[in-house]
Amino acid sequence: MQARRIQFLFLSFLFLLKYPSRARSLDDEDVKRSHFPDGFFFGTSTSSYQVEGAYMEDGKGLNNWDVFSHIPGNIKNNDNGDIADNHYYRFLEDIELMCSLGTNAYRFSISWTRILPRGKFGQVNPRGIMFYNKLIDNLLERGIKPFVTIHHHDIPQELVDRYGGWLSPLMQEDFVYFAEICFKSFGDRIKNWITMNEPNLLVDMSYIRGWYPPAHCSPPFGNCSAGNSDIEPPIAMHNMILGHAKAVKLYRELFQLKQGGSIGIVGFAEYFEPLRDNEFDRQAVSRALAFTNAWLFDPLVYGDYPAEMRLYLGSALPIFSPEEINYVKGSLDFIGMNFYTSLYTKDCIHSACISGWDRPIRGFVYTTGERDGEPIGGRCGNPRFFVVPEGMEKIVSYMKERYSNMPMLVTENGFSPPQQNDQVQALLQDTNRVDFHKSYLAALARAIRNGADVRGYFVWSLIDNFEWIDGYSQRFGLYYVDRRTLERVPKLSAKWYKKFLANGTTDHSNEEDLTTRSFGNTILGSEASKAAI
Ligand code: NOJ
Repeated sequence: MQARRIQFLFLSFLFLLKYPSRARSLDDEDVKRSHFPDGFFFGTSTSSYQVEGAYMEDGKGLNNWDVFSHIPGNIKNNDNGDIADNHYYRFLEDIELMCSLGTNAYRFSISWTRILPRGKFGQVNPRGIMFYNKLIDNLLERGIKPFVTIHHHDIPQELVDRYGGWLSPLMQEDFVYFAEICFKSFGDRIKNWITMNEPNLLVDMSYIRGWYPPAHCSPPFGNCSAGNSDIEPPIAMHNMILGHAKAVKLYRELFQLKQGGSIGIVGFAEYFEPLRDNEFDRQAVSRALAFTNAWLFDPLVYGDYPAEMRLYLGSALPIFSPEEINYVKGSLDFIGMNFYTSLYTKDCIHSACISGWDRPIRGFVYTTGERDGEPIGGRCGNPRFFVVPEGMEKIVSYMKERYSNMPMLVTENGFSPPQQNDQVQALLQDTNRVDFHKSYLAALARAIRNGADVRGYFVWSLIDNFEWIDGYSQRFGLYYVDRRTLERVPKLSAKWYKKFLANGTTDHSNEEDLTTRSFGNTILGSEASKAAI
């Protein structure tokens, strides 16, 4: 008896040595595809600037990221998206990767300057239209539903030069003009439109911190050569919201009935926990939720910004006219959420905070991933991202309650490893990413079981790509991309996702037989033909 116990302990020890990540996740719920509703979309996400490359080819015009990334010092290692993953030329191969995974949906964005090289001040570029036609047709042929983001961070440089991009109300009409061309050109086949990606994050990065173009900020947030971090963000956000709402109005009036699609927006979603167990930090949670998530979604559902924002920002927060309220309110068929992390909140009204967080634009809330030096969850490559799976269930429930359970999509969820380990082998054996997705999916399944109307989940990202100011140093892909050859190599997580989608167990201890090129998940073909959400 004693000998058998020792043998058992010894074998367990060997098992833990070989599969440390399994050991970590033994108490995880064993999440399965069958835990999700029929017709659920499982996909991957990318965006044009981050993967396409071909930045000056086939008539494409320059966008703000082309220009910004070429200024030395703006991007880590002076990387840029000139070539990126060369997806413009390798999209067929990338569709094969999607088929290999067994995904039934793919979210990508349209490069504004590939379609309109000079915004509305020039002609439509037929080769740009042709590229997206080929992409869409090939996806559909393979049973993969395209979810199209019209605007994902990149805008024509021409519009920046002429009137300063999103700070100008003129941008609203430019966006509508671009969106209309997209509806006309692709709407016969696109059933799921996303007007914009993360206006709430874009505004923070571009006009509060000044990290993204046009790099506007002011002290104490940063030392930029132009900008005002207290004043400009709500203006840019307002223009984006009105641009979205006008595009939706146009879609509904001229296209929706005929084309039978749905239209929504994607926000950067974050969840928050009080730093200390006291009333002030708990109130700070609801302010932080208002100043991140609800800043975008409240106007689109209810026709105005959250009450907390009105209270603290006063006249710095633009007003919607009665006519605008008419088309802003209710301008969503679904809510898209990019969810990665939760953070702690500390109240800055009743106690001192690091400079910047104690200002109205931040809602007087300091957000941080650490409490007394201890991270809120596992660390990621992005120092503001942590692995907090419960946050997925909580954010979905929060959105469900706040917006009467309107249809939701998790349009991004993903992991990039902390950077100390750049060894290819370690990047390919990404057990940490597998654990990440398993635990977040399990939390999402719980939220759905509790009644949340979530219709899809998209992994960010299909392939490693250009991670904005971090360049290629952050790798979010299920497929590793060799920066020299651009070869795509499946990581363990790609093999895991494939197995998960085939409704196998999430056990990844026996995946050696899976290869990139093994297609044929028949469940998906029929699912992909289901109606738009
Ligand atoms: C959200 C953005 O939409 C995407 O462009 C970015 O790469 C990922 N988050 C990861 O940070």
